[in-house]
Formats: sequence, structure tokens, C-alpha cells
Amino acid sequence: MQKTLLERIERVADDVVSLVLRGDEGQLAPWEPGAHIDLALPNWLTRQYSLCGDPGDLAAHRIAVRLDPLSRGGSEYVHLHLRPGRTLEVSLPRNHFPLRPAAGYLFLAGGIGITPIVPMMRAAVASGADVSLVYAGRSASSMPFAADLAAAYGDRVRLFDRGRPDLATLTAGPGTEVYCCGPASMLDAAEAVFPRVHVERFQPVRRTFGPDTAFEAGCARSGVTVPVPADESLLDALNHAGRRVPSACREGVCGSCQVSVLDGEPEHRDDIGAPAGRMYPCVSRSRSPRLVLDL
Ligand code: FES
Repeated sequence: MQKTLLERIERVADDVVSLVLRGDEGQLAPWEPGAHIDLALPNWLTRQYSLCGDPGDLAAHRIAVRLDPLSRGGSEYVHLHLRPGRTLEVSLPRNHFPLRPAAGYLFLAGGIGITPIVPMMRAAVASGADVSLVYAGRSASSMPFAADLAAAYGDRVRLFDRGRPDLATLTAGPGTEVYCCGPASMLDAAEAVFPRVHVERFQPVRRTFGPDTAFEAGCARSGVTVPVPADESLLDALNHAGRRVPSACREGVCGSCQVSVLDGEPEHRDDIGAPAGRMYPCVSRSRSPRLVLDL
């Protein structure tokens, strides 16, 4: 984790505030467009937010937070209690939504889903690619950064301030990469229209899996074997056995609990897409009776 000082908090749309977090101990870790951080709140909650500032500025991170009417304490705390001058810890940036080199980009954003798209759009335009953005919200005043984007990129930006357009009317030519971030319904619609779309999810997709079964996890470095009962996650079993694995979302969307798998066959249940040889133990389990982890 890195210590930051909350330098500024300002309203950027209805129910959306932007936070500038200045590194408290020198430069912050570098990041690429599409990355997010975990923000550790003083009420012991940890939440994930996309970085929406300038990757070239390692002195400060910028994020934006929408007040969720169903807040479980994260966004509500940010909006009601956080004030400039507070020291806050943030994780190193992680990126499950990287910008791939392409001749063209079609960005689709809904509401607060615009946050990772802001630096991605800037980098894509700077690369000389053919870029367009479709940005939808329920009203103009609810859409953070809309005016700035329209001013910076002109007719490459199409704003829809009365809800989402029919994505089936959009086209992406050969060589164009499509990126989408927004509410789950928008991500689902984008996946239906563009099979190769890159999406960033902050909530898990509802899916069903086979019944949870017991297995064991061997920790290669310590030589300890941890039994994982059917009614406990691998993450909880490891933590209860004293093998501390950091975690944040516990829903398979943030990536903070990633561990390396040395042997056995994980059953991946995350929404990130675990890289080869890795898994997310907060949600994923095992198809084999034993997994061996690099712990
Ligand atoms: S804690 Fe977020 S992916 Fe496991």
C-alpha cells in the first residue's frame, strides 16, 4: 500500500465527486490507462476505483466516486465524511482493462464507467488511431467529464444524455478494438453486439456453478496443507490457517487476492480472466482434490 494525502475533493456531476490523492512519501507507482486502485477507507472498507487522471503525473492519483443509493458504506463514506487533509492508503495500480495497440478504437461508456475511459481516450488519440467515444447517461448533469471530453475531442465524442443508444446500430471496422465500461446491462448489451469487446466489471456477472466441494490447498513455501471445506472460500481457509492473502472485493472482480498456482486444476469463477498459472481464491475453487499454491 502507498500513503496519500487527500488534496482535493470536488463535485464533477450529480452525485459524483472527484478526489485528488497526492503521494505522501514521494512519487506514486506508475500506471497505464485502464488501471484501478484499491482505496482503503478509514471505516475499514476497501473499494476499487479506476484512475482517471494523467498517467504522466506520478505525484497524484485522480479518481471519481458516484454515491451509490445502495451503498454498503463505501461511496457513502467518501461523499459524507471524507475531507481534504485526510491520509488514505491506496494499493499499487492493477490493470485488467489495458489498451491494446490498434488502428482504431470504439469506446462505450455509461455513467461513472467513463472514469477508466478518460485516460484511455487520451492515449488512443495521442497514438494517432481512429477514435470514437459513445458516452451515455440518464441526464447531462449526471455525466462526469462529458463537457471536457466534448471540448477536447469534438465530433469524436457522441453524448447520449437520455439513456443508452441501441448498441446494435454501432459498427466497428476491422482493426478497431471496442472497450466498454458502465452498468452491467450495458456491458451485457456490448458483449451481445461485439463478441470481442473488452469490458471492465466492478460487479460480478450472475452465473451458476456446480456444487462447492471440499479440497485441500498445499502451500509450497511453508509446507503447510490447508483443508478447504465445501462451505468456505479458499481465501477464508487460507487466512484462517494464517496464510495471509490480501483481498478487497471478495467477488472476483478486483484482482487483489491473486495467487500463483504451482499444481492442480483451479476452477476459475472470477470475472477478470485469471492469467495462466494464477487464480483468485476469493471466488475460485478447485477441480482437482489438491491445489499447490506459491504461498
Ligand atoms: S478479492 Fe477481489 S478478486 Fe479476490
